[in-house]
Amino acid sequence: MNKLKNLLNKKNKSKIVCLTAYSKNIASILDNHCDIILVGDSLGSVLYNFKSTRDVTLDMMIEHSKSVKMGIKKSLMVVDMPHNTYRNSVEALKNAKKIISQTKCDAVKLEGGNKIINIVKHLVKNKIQVQGHLGVLPQSEKGKFRFKGKKLAERIKILKDAKLLEKAGVFSIVLECVETSLAKKITNELNIPTIGIGASSYCDGQVLVTDDLIGFNPINVRFVKKYANISKHINSAIIKFKNDVKKRKFPKKKHSY
Ligand code: KIV
Repeated sequence: MNKLKNLLNKKNKSKIVCLTAYSKNIASILDNHCDIILVGDSLGSVLYNFKSTRDVTLDMMIEHSKSVKMGIKKSLMVVDMPHNTYRNSVEALKNAKKIISQTKCDAVKLEGGNKIINIVKHLVKNKIQVQGHLGVLPQSEKGKFRFKGKKLAERIKILKDAKLLEKAGVFSIVLECVETSLAKKITNELNIPTIGIGASSYCDGQVLVTDDLIGFNPINVRFVKKYANISKHINSAIIKFKNDVKKRKFPKKKHSY
């Protein structure tokens, strides 16, 4: 798989760009600029207002991913396996195969380290490309998210998990809200690329939720840089449309049959 080889070759050479997409039109814009497009289960909170990603279902991920796939020509497409879809190896393989066959994505992403290592190994053995995810694990967090890697025991565990995941055959690991020096150490000690979100510039690549960076999702967290205020542009277009309708300026003859 060339897309994957190209990605792995970027380690220590050029930074990897990754963003989330939940539907076709945005995916087709991202596809010109991203190495990886992630259909993240963050769609649960961003689109459905769920309190946590734990309520996202396999069917939701598959339907959104089918739409995203229509917008992708060249990027590597990764789909999050939602909570409770990979509780054991048999369940994980069945659901990963379902995601891949129905969405034609390139890989799936699973949250966790040692706890899911046999599941990851089973997927890899069955030729499923797997991306790991360590640090803050939204599918397992209870309460407010806190960055990871402050305490020594936590640092040791995350580094150990990263090495276990690499050995199990994942092609890359997302590090979410991991303290800077730990993210640097993991990135230096692994041969596979790390993709950071709130995990410093030392990672091999960066990922953000697209709706956050374009100012379409009202979120205010330290690790998000807002590159646009798309809501403002949409609002002014809608106001213009509304005024045109009220003033009978739209539709004109050229818009009619
Ligand atoms: O669900 C998601 O969008 C993610 C990214 C934030 C990495 O997992």
